[in-house]
Amino acid sequence: MGPSTAAVVTAAAPRAARPHRALPVSAALLVAVFASGCELGERDLPYGGAPSAQRIAGQRLLAQYQCGSCHAIPGVPIAQGAAAPPLGAFGRRSYIAGRVPNRPDTLAEWIVAPASLVPGTLMPAMGVSPADARDMAAYLLALE
Ligand code: HEC
Repeated sequence: MGPSTAAVVTAAAPRAARPHRALPVSAALLVAVFASGCELGERDLPYGGAPSAQRIAGQRLLAQYQCGSCHAIPGVPIAQGAAAPPLGAFGRRSYIAGRVPNRPDTLAEWIVAPASLVPGTLMPAMGVSPADARDMAAYLLALE
């Protein structure tokens, strides 16, 4: 009797402890997901690090290239389009077009040649030079 009772007690103990351990772990995970804007904390958001001269140039170029015929863009008064997703708070977005990680290099590439990143996308290539695209990306990524 002695040895078998001991075996049952030690076997049951970890099972009983499991629910108490699992709860804090899943709660911590939930907090992490919400705190990081659902992108699991890979980077700080938004990118405000570009020089302000570059962001100001980008703001002007967004108007010049008429991105606003399709997009609404905060701080670009002429940009009131509703044909495409609004670009407000773009610095907080985790993904471009829901698919491509949103970073300065990928966003500039998207602006030059969207279909090179997302084949079949409805966003047209607008004939933007890489330098102009980098400036526009700097402005968009500073939007919070
Ligand atoms: C003819 C309409 C049109 C014009 C003009 C246009 N876009 Fe777009 N854009 C789109 C569409 C449609 C999408 C959505 C594409 C997708 O989800 O595949 C999009 C998506 C985007 C996105 C990603 C949006 C998101 O929610 O992830 C960015 C950033 C963007 N465009 C920037 C620009 C910039 C910068 C310009 C100007 C150089 C521009 N667009 C001009 C139609 C346009």
